[in-house]
Amino acid sequence: MLYTFYMRYLESRHCDGIINDPRYEEIINRINLDQSAFEPYPEESPLFFACRSVIIDNVARQFITGNPLATIASFGSGLDFRFNRIDNGSIQWYDIDLPEAIEIRRAIFTQSEREHSIPSSALDISWSSRVKCKTPLLFIAEGLLMYFSPVEIKNLLEFLSGTYPGSVLLLDASTTLYNTTTAKGTTYPYLKKMCSLWKWSVNSAHELEGYCPGLSVAGEWHPMEMFGSRMPRNLKDLLASEELPGFVKEQIMGMTTVYLLKLGPHTNSKSRASGDVPDDLVDTIFSG
Ligand SMILES: C[S@@+](CC[C@H](N)C(=O)[O-])C[C@H]1O[C@@H](n2cnc3c(N)ncnc32)[C@H](O)[C@@H]1O
Repeated sequence: MLYTFYMRYLESRHCDGIINDPRYEEIINRINLDQSAFEPYPEESPLFFACRSVIIDNVARQFITGNPLATIASFGSGLDFRFNRIDNGSIQWYDIDLPEAIEIRRAIFTQSEREHSIPSSALDISWSSRVKCKTPLLFIAEGLLMYFSPVEIKNLLEFLSGTYPGSVLLLDASTTLYNTTTAKGTTYPYLKKMCSLWKWSVNSAHELEGYCPGLSVAGEWHPMEMFGSRMPRNLKDLLASEELPGFVKEQIMGMTTVYLLKLGPHTNSKSRASGDVPDDLVDTIFSG
C-alpha cells in the first residue's frame, strides 16, 4: 500500500503528471516514509499507478452522477483517499481493509461522517452486515485481487453476486503472461517482492465472466493506453515494431486491465433497480 501510494506521489510531482494533487505530498510528509525502500523502480510505475487510479476515479464519478446517493465500498483501500477526490457531498463510503491498514488510515486521515471504516479482510464476509445500503452498490478493488487465490476470487464473486445482484465491481487484473514474465524477469527488488505474492491473473473479460453465473463485464480500460508520449522507450519500440503481430501488441497494451463487472443476474432495462448501472455507461465514460 505504501508502494502504490508512493508511486502516485511521484507522479503528482512530475511536470507532465497525469495527476496533480498536493494531498499526496501532504500525506507523504505525515507518514515519514523511507522512500529509499522502493528504489529503484520501473520508469513507468508512477504513471501506471496514476493512470489506473484515474480510470477508477472516472468510472466511480460516472456511477455517482447516475446515483447521487450512491453507496461505495472500497476493498483494500490502503492509503488511497478516493472518497475525498470524488465525493459529491451525499454519497456513503466504506473502506474495508485489514485491521493494521485501517489503523494507519485512522492515524493519518480525518473521516467525514459519511465515511466508514471496516477493519476486516474482504474475504471475511461478515463485513457485509456492517454495510448499510438499499440501492445497488459500487464495489472497488484496486490493487487487491491479485493477492487472492482463484478459489478465493470465485468465493468472493459468488458472495457479491448472490448478495448484491445489480451492483457493480470495479477491479483491476493483469494477464498470466504479465505476472509470470514479471516474476521471472524483473530486476527491481521491490517489484519482485510484490509479485512473488501475486496468485491471480485473468486474460480476458470472457474468462472473468466464467467465475460464476450472472457476471457480465460492462467495461474494460487499459491504463497503458493513457501513457501517450510518455510510453517508455522499450515499450514504444516494441509497439512500433513491424515484426510483432497485432495480437501480441494488444496483449502488451492489455497486460493490466480495469474491468467494470456487473454482479448477479442480468437485468433488462425495464426491470432494472433504481440506481443500477445504465447500459450506456461505458459509452459515455471518457467520451471526448
Ligand atoms: C497493493 S495495496 C493497494 C492499495 C490501494 N488500493 C492502492 O491502489 O493504492 C493492497 C491493499 O489491500 C489490502 N489487503 C490485503 N489483503 C486484504 C484482504 N484480505 N482484505 C482486504 N484488504 C486487503 C492491504 O492492506 C492494502 O491496503
